[in-house]
Amino acid sequence: MNRTRRLRKSEGIRRLVKENNLTVDDLIYPLFIEEGENIEKEIVSMPGIFRFSLDRISKELDEVVALNIPAVLLFGIPSEKDDEGTETWNDNGIMQQAVRFIKKNYPSLYVITDVCFCEYTSHGHCGVIHENDVDNDATLINLAKQTISHAKAGVDMVAPSGMMDGTIATMREALDNNGFPNIPIMGYSVKYASAFYGPFRDAADSAPTFGDRRTYQMDPSNRLEGHREASFDDEEGADILMVKPALSYLDIIRDLKEDFDRPIACYNVSGEYAMVKAAAEKGWIDGERVMMESLLSMKRAGADIIITYFAKEVAKILSKK
Ligand code: PBG
Repeated sequence: MNRTRRLRKSEGIRRLVKENNLTVDDLIYPLFIEEGENIEKEIVSMPGIFRFSLDRISKELDEVVALNIPAVLLFGIPSEKDDEGTETWNDNGIMQQAVRFIKKNYPSLYVITDVCFCEYTSHGHCGVIHENDVDNDATLINLAKQTISHAKAGVDMVAPSGMMDGTIATMREALDNNGFPNIPIMGYSVKYASAFYGPFRDAADSAPTFGDRRTYQMDPSNRLEGHREASFDDEEGADILMVKPALSYLDIIRDLKEDFDRPIACYNVSGEYAMVKAAAEKGWIDGERVMMESLLSMKRAGADIIITYFAKEVAKILSKK
C-alpha cells in the first residue's frame, strides 16, 4: 500500500522531507516614519506597529538589527502635503532624512524606500491629478525627481508602488543618467486595488479624499493581466517583481515564479496582518501559528522575499528554533 504517513511519523523525518522553509533571510520589515519629534504612536488597527519620528526610532532599528532582519522598507509621512506631493523630492524631506540616518547609524541594514505620492498629496492619490484622475505621464516626471532624491540620500533599493505605466523605465533611466546605475528597483509589478490596504491608509495617512485607485491599480479578478504587468516591468528592467497583496493572490505569485527568472517578492499587507491580530486577540485562532502558516504558504507559492509587519515576531520565533 502507498503509505504517505511513513514520512510523517516523527519530527526528525518531517524535518528531512520538508519542502519549504521560512527563514529570516526572506524578510523585509516595513517602517512608518513621521516628520516631527517625539512621535511613537501605535496604529490602532495594526497592534505592535508604530509610527515613529526619527528621534524615537533607534530602539526599533536596534531590535531589527539584533534579530538579523536583512532589510527595511520605509514609508515617509510628511508634515506638509500639497497637490503634487512636492515634498517627495525635497532632498531634506522626511524620507531622505530617514535614509541618511539609517545608513549612517545602521550601515549593515539594507534600506529600501517606497517611491510613491499618496502619503504626500493633499488628495491622497498616487500622482498628479488632472480631470479627476491621476495623470500618468505628468506623474512620471515627478517620479524621476523623487527617485533621484532618494538615491542621493543613499538608499540601497527603490520600490515604486504607484502603478503608473512606464514607471520602471522612467526610474531606471533617471538612476542611470544620474550616476546611480547600481541601485536596483523592486517593482510593485502586480498590485491590486485591494480592500486589504485599509489599515495602512490609516497608518500612512494616505487614503484618497475622492474616488478610489481602480484607474491605476489592478482589478482583483484578473490573472493574465498580472502576467502582462510583470512582463512590462521585466522588460523595463525591474530587478525584483512583487505581487501585492499576498494571501489572496498566491496564484499570481506562483505564475510569476514560473514565468520569470527574476526574484519574486510578495507584500503581506496591513489588512492581512490586522485580521490575524484581531482574531487572535479574540482567542478565535492561534495567532502565532496562523502567522507562520500564512507566511510559509507564500514561500510555497514561490515568493523569494516577503515584506511583512510580522517580520520581528517571525525572526524571534525562528531564532529560537
Ligand atoms: C501606496 C502603498 C499602499 C501600500 C503600500 N504602498 C497603499 C495603497 O496602495 O493604497 C499598502 C501596504 C499595506 O497595506 O500594508 N503607496
